[in-house]
Amino acid sequence: MNDLNAIVESAQVAFAQAVTPADLENAKALFLGKSGRITELMKGMAALSVDEKKSRGAAINLAKQAIEAALTARRQALADAELQAQLRAEALDVTLPGRQRGQGGLHPVSLTMERIEAIFGSMGFDVAQGPEIESDWFNFTALNTPEDHPARSMHDTFYVEGGSETAPNLLRTHTSPMQIRYAVQHVKKYSSKANGGEGHGLFSGDMPEIRVIAPGRTYRVDSDATHSPMFHQCEGLWVGENVSFKDLKFVFTDFCRTFFESDDLVLRFRPSFFPFTEPSAEIDIQFQSGPLAGRWLEVAGSGQVHPNVIRNMGLDPEKYIGFAFGMGPDRLTMLRYGVNDLRLFFDGDVRFLSQFQ
Ligand code: PHE
Repeated sequence: MNDLNAIVESAQVAFAQAVTPADLENAKALFLGKSGRITELMKGMAALSVDEKKSRGAAINLAKQAIEAALTARRQALADAELQAQLRAEALDVTLPGRQRGQGGLHPVSLTMERIEAIFGSMGFDVAQGPEIESDWFNFTALNTPEDHPARSMHDTFYVEGGSETAPNLLRTHTSPMQIRYAVQHVKKYSSKANGGEGHGLFSGDMPEIRVIAPGRTYRVDSDATHSPMFHQCEGLWVGENVSFKDLKFVFTDFCRTFFESDDLVLRFRPSFFPFTEPSAEIDIQFQSGPLAGRWLEVAGSGQVHPNVIRNMGLDPEKYIGFAFGMGPDRLTMLRYGVNDLRLFFDGDVRFLSQFQ
């Protein structure tokens, strides 16, 4: 019997060492296969007597049953282990944080633009958009800017291929061309009504006042911490029969105080020069309190619209008069939020931009 016990034990060991179903089937063959050890023992019984066969056969059968039981148990254990492994592999970790879609928001300069539009909108100003590729006529000539003005030089302006009297040939250096574009459309609308569509020459009839702002991108050959080749401007124009510098002062003061949410703010109109306004003034503001208190900060150019420009709008300068201003929304954004490098606005760094949401 000892030999049988030893065989059963070695089968149990071999089954225990099998780590895959294939290992286990190989191990099974060693004992129960065609030339396995149990099968060999059975074959060896042929030479025994009938009685010996009985007892030996019963003993071998017991051993065989023990091996089969061990095999079944190991099969089950391996199947269980495989199932556990699969469950572990396909497990869903419901404690993982969900994936979030990035939350978008408006650029700080866009926030300023919206603010400017809302404030001037509340004062009855229309909002107009114009082309960024502009013609020489609208950008310079119609704005009374002489041929030899430095702004027209290659060093200051981005010129594009081609260009003729009417074709666009440069990136606008300011939003002032919109003064002409908007006014011409406005005057056309009312002069054609007045003159039955025959309106040529300068219009001196009645029309609603022109009151418009024109925000947008502008371009100059300029690049440092406070200048970018692309920057923003917002033009303002108010033309009527009786619009004066006093109105400019009132409107712009009101705008600044609303924009910065502070009455603690004074304005200074500093004499200056622009070809398209006469007289002209730079507008400086000064906060009376807060981190910027006491410094004069330039925020806009302005002036009374030059009679030649009024003419180029199609209006009679004997009847119509007004003012214009051009301010820098980038600068206003820097002042409002305390940003000291203009380039941050255009680098596209989300760590910077997300602070404005
Ligand atoms: N266009 C001028 C500039 O870019 C600003 C300006 C606009 C001045 C309107 C007067 C009137 O500097």
